[in-house]
Amino acid sequence: MEVVQTINAMQAYARALQQRGTQVAFVPTMGGLHEGHCSLIRLAKENADHVIASVFVNPTQFGPGEDLERYPRNLERDCELCGEAGADAVFAPSVADMYADGHTVYVVEETVGNILEGAFRPGHFRGVLTVVAKLFLAVQPQVAVFGRKDAQQLWLIQKMVRDLNFPIQIVAGPTVREADGLALSSRNAYLSSEHRRQATCLYRALQRAEDLFVAGERTAAILRTAMQELVSEEPDADMDYIEIVDMDRFSPIATIKDAALAVMAVRVGDTRLIDNWELSTGANKT
Ligand code: PAF
Repeated sequence: MEVVQTINAMQAYARALQQRGTQVAFVPTMGGLHEGHCSLIRLAKENADHVIASVFVNPTQFGPGEDLERYPRNLERDCELCGEAGADAVFAPSVADMYADGHTVYVVEETVGNILEGAFRPGHFRGVLTVVAKLFLAVQPQVAVFGRKDAQQLWLIQKMVRDLNFPIQIVAGPTVREADGLALSSRNAYLSSEHRRQATCLYRALQRAEDLFVAGERTAAILRTAMQELVSEEPDADMDYIEIVDMDRFSPIATIKDAALAVMAVRVGDTRLIDNWELSTGANKT
C-alpha cells in the first residue's frame, strides 16, 4: 500500500488513476483508526476500484482549549489498519503543506454550520469544510465515504458538494458501536474506566427516545426531557445539547412528522462525545 505525503504527489497519483479510467473512493480520517473507520474503508471498496484514505489531524477544526495536541497520532499503525481494511493508498500530508503560510481562504456554510456542534465549537465546521474541500481537490475521487456518527458534518459536506458542484458522490456509512451501544470514536481512548461506563448514557438516552417514539410520542420537548433526565443521572456527564432535528434541513423541530434525528453532545469528565439516532419507522437505525 502506497503512502503519499504531499499534495503535489497526491494530485499526480490521482491524474495517473484518471488516465487509466480507475474509479476512486475516498475515506478522509484524522487517524486514531478504529473499526468505525475500517468499516468505511470496506464500504468504499464496494463503491470503487481503488480506495484512498487520508490521515490528517486538521488543526483548523479544533478550537482553543480543545484536544488538538492530545489527539491520537500513530501514522504507522493507521496505515497498517487502512491496508488491512482494503485501502490501496493513504494520503498523509503535513500541516505545512495543507496550510501554507498566508492561507486565508476558507469554506463556510452559513446556517446549519452555526447551530448545535457549530454553536458549541465556533469555527469547527469552517475547518472541516475547508479541509474536506482541499482533500477532495488533492485526491479527486468520484465517491467519498463519511460516517453517520458525525451527522451534522455529513449533512454539511453533502450541502457543500451540492452548493459548490463537486463531482463527487457522498456515501454514508453506519455508526459502529461497542456491545453496550457506545459509538466508536477516537476520543473514547481518553475515557477512564469509570467514565467509559458513564459514557453509555448517550446510547441509553437515544434508546429511551427510540422507545418513546415507537410508543407513539412525537413531541420533541418530551423526547428531549426524557433524554436529559437519563444523562443527568451520571455524575460526570454534562450535556452540551440534545435536540430533535429535521433530517432534510437539519434544523430543530417541535413535532416529528415521519422521521427525525435525535442528536446529542455530552461531556463525560473532560471527554466530549457526540451521537445520534434516527427516529423513524424505517430500518436504517444506526
Ligand atoms: O470526521 C473526521 O474525522 C474529520 O472531521 C474529517 C472529515 C476527516 C475532516 O478532518
